[in-house]
Amino acid sequence: MKILVINGPNINMIGVREPEIYGKKTYLELCGFVKENCVRLGLDVDIFQSNYEGEIIDSIQQAYGFYDGIIINPAAYTHTSIAILDALKAVNIDTIEVHLSDPENREPFRKISYVSEYATKVFKGEGFNGYLKALEYFANKKQIK
Ligand code: DQA
Repeated sequence: MKILVINGPNINMIGVREPEIYGKKTYLELCGFVKENCVRLGLDVDIFQSNYEGEIIDSIQQAYGFYDGIIINPAAYTHTSIAILDALKAVNIDTIEVHLSDPENREPFRKISYVSEYATKVFKGEGFNGYLKALEYFANKKQIK
């Protein structure tokens, strides 16, 4: 089972960026965490990060026919991007939304998530563990198949 992990703007800055919200671990550590768990769970993974909405949309479109699942942390685009929602709907790949923090418990402008309109599940406020839960979702799905 091939999984594409997509991280949106400023996720590459974790470890430096607002550590009281996002923790002290770096983006490199997040990528290592995801890869290690994919080996353990028997999932093939590619990880993509971009600060550009169009590149995120391109990566979703290019996933069509190649990936069985998407794990996406759209970062600030969560709250603004109908285009990312439309791209996910277009490719119709099972998608899990992840957030390191819990946007519901932050500023009011973070309460809306367009991607949640499509995502099968949302894991938020659990740091790296949210990515693990998303990977486990796909690993369980693989076993059921
Ligand atoms: C985030 C939450 C978003 O509101 C924010 O814009 C981010 C990161 C998270 O992982 O907690 O950049 O998606």
